[in-house]
Order: sequence, then structure tokens, then C-alpha cells
Amino acid sequence: MMDVLIAGFGVVGQGITEVIRDKQDLFMKRFGERVRIVGAFDRRSMALDPSGLDPTELLSRKLATGQVGKVPVATDIEELLRETAYDMLLEVTPTNIVDGEPGYTHIRTALSAGRHVVTSNKGPLALRFRELTELAARNRVQLRFEASVGGAMPVINLSRDLLMGEEIASIRGILNGTCNFILHRMKVEGYSFDFALREAQELGYAETDPSYDIDGVDSACKLAILANAIFERDVTYSDVVRTGIRGINEEAISLAAEQNKVIRLIGEVSRDKLEVAPRLVPAGHQLSIGGTLNIAQILTDMAGDVTVVGRGAGRMETASALLSDILAIFKDEEARRNATRRAII
Ligand SMILES: NC(=O)c1ccc[n+]([C@@H]2O[C@H](COP(=O)([O-])OP(=O)(O)OC[C@H]3O[C@@H](n4cnc5c(N)ncnc54)[C@H](OP(=O)(O)O)[C@@H]3O)[C@@H](O)[C@H]2O)c1
Repeated sequence: MMDVLIAGFGVVGQGITEVIRDKQDLFMKRFGERVRIVGAFDRRSMALDPSGLDPTELLSRKLATGQVGKVPVATDIEELLRETAYDMLLEVTPTNIVDGEPGYTHIRTALSAGRHVVTSNKGPLALRFRELTELAARNRVQLRFEASVGGAMPVINLSRDLLMGEEIASIRGILNGTCNFILHRMKVEGYSFDFALREAQELGYAETDPSYDIDGVDSACKLAILANAIFERDVTYSDVVRTGIRGINEEAISLAAEQNKVIRLIGEVSRDKLEVAPRLVPAGHQLSIGGTLNIAQILTDMAGDVTVVGRGAGRMETASALLSDILAIFKDEEARRNATRRAII
């Protein structure tokens, strides 16, 4: 049995709860074990039961009351994360790029207490990556974060696991669906930047305060995570050279069109580059992709360009990336158990 505790019960927390409920057969068939939710908390409430909580009940209570639990959340969260019995923390609280909280404290406490962590939260990783990965290694547990970059687009695990034998020279791509939607609509419909942004807000792609997306902060956080995780650099999001898309007007879009090009917000990371900026991309090029999709081109020494495209956000898309990390931990635990068994025989 793999016991999980869920920190944050918003869009992603509810998505992964649904997935855990619906994928029990897969867990049993592939690993002979179940995943059990033994705790969940949001800003004000919590639910705990060492014998397992009913995912459907958690979801319906959140829907009906706005709270995941019936009791107020513990005043000492660190104690809760240290003293509760569980194997893995699913950390899905909001991204905060000022100090990484509350995710940073949640992740640090769980890792220090010898628990695996799977997260979609960019803040702690874009600010304190090295410290947290070293903490995980010291405590012989895993910190996995596929969902933090590109949602369902598997760029981190693909680069680190399947392309393990490759020398990766660079990764470049579109890591923010909201900006891509805006630039795409400006080109296709001839909209002004403000009009396209309003449309993105009405459709729920952009926040009321869109600066995190359109000033390139979100892309910069993701690039910093890629730089740390794949290029073994030690950077934070503020090390990223960053230009957003606020300055892109209809004239720039038409000038690009005259050269048969489009403007895209492109992030690029390598051993010596770390930059996100609007770039001219030839129409029809892979990076000229439209809509809210994300794309990453991984430039390798043997396989050449490996390109992944996928949905960068959304309840089920993000849950899918979290699930891939949960399964990777299952697989690793299974390998560890088999190795111990062989050693005993
Ligand atoms: N949504 C996506 O498509 C997506 C994609 C990739 C990555 N992510 C990342 O995944 C994380 C979760 O995103 P989301 O869309 O699920 O956000 P969300 O809908 O805003 O949910 C956040 C949840 O965290 C809870 N929370 C806030 N402060 C807390 C605290 N101090 N202690 C405990 N819980 C707290 C909130 O509680 P209340 O419900 O009580 O307010 C809420 O349940 C973020 O870091 C985000 O950047 C999201």
C-alpha cells in the first residue's frame, strides 16, 4: 500500500484525487499495490484517516462546502507533515515566486521526514532547487516534479530517463500556453494585444492579474527548473534573461507576417544560455504552433532534435503528469524491494 497525503485541494489536488480513485486497477495490476489517500488539507481545513479516506467523499465535500475536511487545518503544519504516517506527499498548493511558501516548507518537511514528494508547484523548485534535491538524496527519497513544467508534456522525465544516454545541448520551446494563445489570436484574427488578452481572460486561460504569464515569469520559472534538473545548473528564476509579450503590437505581428514569420514567446536553456523572449519563427516551423499548446525541442548529440508537444495545463493534464511521477516512484520501490530480496536469497 502506498499512502499519500495531499497538500492543496484546488484544481490539481482534486484532479489527482479523481485519478487515484480511478486508477486503482492499474496500480494493482502493475505493482500489486493500492494507493490510499490518508490525508488532505487546503487553506482552512483538513481530513485525516490512517485507514484511508474516500476520494469521492473528499471531492463532494470540497464541491459542497469549499473545504476538503470537516476540521480546521492543523496550526502546526510541520508537525502534521512530520508525525502523520504516509509514504508520499503530493504538494499542489499555489506557486509563489517570492519565497516559495507554503510549498517550500511542505516539501522540505516531508523530505526531511523521509517521505517522497511529487509536486506541480514551480515556486520551491524555481527558487531552491539544489537545496531540495540534495535534501531528498540525503534522506534517500525522491522529489519528482514533471507536472511543474509543461503540464502533460513529458519533457523532464523524457530528457532525464529515456534520453539518459544523450548529450543534451539545449532545450527550447513554448512553455506558456496563455502567451501562445494571445500571440496566435493577434496573428489569426488581427486582434490588438489588449483584446486578445481579454479574450484569454474570458476563456479562463489568463488570470485577472495576467502579469505572471505575459511578463514571462511563468516561462522563466519553468526554464530555471529545466536548467537545474537537466543541465545540472544552480539557478533561480531571476537568473533567467526575461522579456515578456506586453510590447508586442499589431504592427510587429504584421511586419513578421510580411516575412512569412510569426512571433512566439520562446524559452531556451543550455549550459550557458537561459533566456525567454519573443522571437520570430518561420510560419510552418514546429515552434510556430498555435493555441494553448506547449512544445519543447530537445537537441541531442545522437538522436538529433526530439520534439514533444502537449497540453501545458488543465486539471486532468496536470494530474496525468503527477501520476507518471507516482508510478515512477512505485517502479523504483519495486526495483529496490527486488534487489533486497535477491540479496537475502
Ligand atoms: N492548474 C493547472 O493547470 C496547473 C498546471 C501545472 C502546474 N500547476 C501548479 O499546481 C499547483 C496547484 O495549482 P491549482 O491550479 O490546483 O491551484 P488552485 O486551484 O488555486 O488550488 C490551490 C489549493 O491550495 C490550497 N492552499 C492555498 N494556500 C494553502 C496553504 N497555505 N496550505 C494548504 N493549502 C493551501 C488552496 O486552498 P483553498 O481551496 O482552501 O483555497 C487550494 O485548495 C500550483 O503551484 C500551480 O502553479 C497548475
